[in-house]
Amino acid sequence: MIFEQVTTGGCRSYLVGCGDSCAAVLIDPEVSQVDRYLALAARDGLRVRYVIDTHTHADHFSATRQLARALGVPTVMHRASPAPGVDMRVDDGEMLVVGKLRMRVLHTPGHTRDSMCLVVEDRVFTGDTLLIGGTGRTDLPTGDAHALYDSLFGRLLKLDPALQVHPAHEYKGRDHSTIGEELASNPRLQHREREDFVALMHGLNLSMPTHVTEALRTNLSGGKTVAQMLAEAAARVPFMSLDELLERSTRGDTDLIVLDVREREAFMAGHVAGARHLPRGQLELRVNEELPDPTRRIITCCEFGRISTLAAATLREMGFMRAVALDGGIKAWREAGYPLQGGGDTPAPG
Ligand SMILES: [Fe+2]
Repeated sequence: MIFEQVTTGGCRSYLVGCGDSCAAVLIDPEVSQVDRYLALAARDGLRVRYVIDTHTHADHFSATRQLARALGVPTVMHRASPAPGVDMRVDDGEMLVVGKLRMRVLHTPGHTRDSMCLVVEDRVFTGDTLLIGGTGRTDLPTGDAHALYDSLFGRLLKLDPALQVHPAHEYKGRDHSTIGEELASNPRLQHREREDFVALMHGLNLSMPTHVTEALRTNLSGGKTVAQMLAEAAARVPFMSLDELLERSTRGDTDLIVLDVREREAFMAGHVAGARHLPRGQLELRVNEELPDPTRRIITCCEFGRISTLAAATLREMGFMRAVALDGGIKAWREAGYPLQGGGDTPAPG
């Protein structure tokens, strides 16, 4: 078995492959690591056949759909997943055949209703059902402490004690543990009576994970995160540095149109000398009158450098093939002590 573990913050994803056939699966991939998964698979000579989420993640952004589309393979989740776009739904007791590997599905609801564990050879991928020295929480949508008790004590912990445990989260950098080690020392598993365990889970009083709304929105719909929208826009436009713009602005480069896409108030408070003002919200509607010549060289700028990236990508899409974005924003420009034209210095979001 070929095995790669990818850590993103506290999240873990896995690439598991059959050394004989070169077929592989990806488990719980995360959007920021898409290039890494593809590079690891290529380095190991693997062809990914399935992209699997062990459950509906509320705390990270799943890359299953993006990878499945890129690779032309199905996304896999448990039958109970509420996400409409799952290509292949699996259920307890079924197996994914990955070359010579047999990956068995264990439905383990509790952290979420659609949680599953995947057993292959000497290891089990436990998702958020069982963590090293912990368990998944049960206070997020579809969580259920009683169900988690049944999944742990009735199913997962009855597996071979020597099985390696590979969870979807690990915050202390430990590589893995085993079922036996967890039974012996996991503090939450020492509460072996149902009522004790449920009371423990109900009493955890955890704070909400960051980005829970965005994670559920994108993971359930297959939609994009804000970071993805920005990354996709950034991949389609060239950038110009603050210094380069300063130099061109100082020498009065008339070839370059500086287009400030912030709101009026922010523009009036201070902008790059000679900049034109066209707020991002009006860009498409006013572009014909404001920028009649699509062959002109245009640099977009905003407060933080994000909206200007979206604006430059929109301009390119509309045929302004020389649109570029400022690498940074007017905030950075101001902080660098570079000259601004116009009023005071009250920044506004942009
Ligand atoms: Fe989770």
